[in-house]
Amino acid sequence: MMHFYNTLVYWYLQNKRDLPWRKTKNPYLIWLSEIILQQTRVDQGLDYYLKFSETFPTVSHLANAKESDVLKLWQGLGYYSRARNLHFSANYIINELNGEFPKSYNDLIKLKGVGDYTASAIASICYDEPTAVVDGNVYRVLSRYFGIHTAINSTKGIKEFKKLAQQLITNEDPGRYNQAIMEFGAKQCKPQNPNCDQCPLNDSCVALQKKLVNNLPVKEKKIKIKLRYFNYLVLDSNNHTLVRQRSTKGIWQNLYEFPLIESENELAIEELRILPALSQHFDDENISIQLFNTKIIVHKLSHQHLLTKFWIISTEKLPTDAISWNDVDTYPVPILIQNFVEKFKNNQ
Ligand code: ADE
Repeated sequence: MMHFYNTLVYWYLQNKRDLPWRKTKNPYLIWLSEIILQQTRVDQGLDYYLKFSETFPTVSHLANAKESDVLKLWQGLGYYSRARNLHFSANYIINELNGEFPKSYNDLIKLKGVGDYTASAIASICYDEPTAVVDGNVYRVLSRYFGIHTAINSTKGIKEFKKLAQQLITNEDPGRYNQAIMEFGAKQCKPQNPNCDQCPLNDSCVALQKKLVNNLPVKEKKIKIKLRYFNYLVLDSNNHTLVRQRSTKGIWQNLYEFPLIESENELAIEELRILPALSQHFDDENISIQLFNTKIIVHKLSHQHLLTKFWIISTEKLPTDAISWNDVDTYPVPILIQNFVEKFKNNQ
């Protein structure tokens, strides 16, 4: 632990880049720099930092600016809510905190747009509070040096790495240590092809000893949940309804369901009424439509959420393949349909 800490700080003192925000403890300027650096690399961030700190040299300059001017300066960085939050929090500091910048981690984190990382960075750099930063660089350095395989984007991993980072930091210039480990991750312990031969920690790095440098850190693949909007057309005329067998591959292959219209978004009744797909199912200009569930039903599958509406349709012209409601239970149907059928029958 001591070896790790001392080596990092020693490396930093010899290798740190000369950057304007490393020459100040002004919390407003550190805040600016840290928000910008969350969005981009140091070389590109430098231009933005210079523009922002010249245009808005103090928090009250930023607060008094028009939001559109702040967004304009931010242009090209992306993720514009960061810029809106900067502007919002500047106003908050001026108007609600009498212009006094928050002076501790606990107060900093209350600002909109300031999370654990930013609050830790500002508190340590400006107020010498030993609060450890954990950004992508820190995850990489710690996971490799200590050989930790816990996924850095899992709840468990986030807790574990924050705890370890917090154990490593000391009261002695915590801001310098935080910047040392981030700089070390950016310049030495790089994501791709780190130069381990030249690394001052290569005598004790677990990943290097076990040849795991390229396998760490571990990131969990988060499956992306797809949202699908299902509109079931539930015929209800003369005690008859209509069902269809699903033939498409994927969910519910070969099960039965009501005629389905899938849409890109949630449909309102007016939108449904004019869909060409509706007249393909019902050859009747005078059908009546009623929404059964006013609250959309969310049916959760492992990779998708089906946001479902059941529309009750009545028509004078019963389709020839309509079936009796009494026979619906003989068809194999998905649970989503089964649950609806039970509710619907209880409602009659
Ligand atoms: N990345 C983001 N903020 C940083 C800082 N203060 N020092 C080094 N790298 C950083």
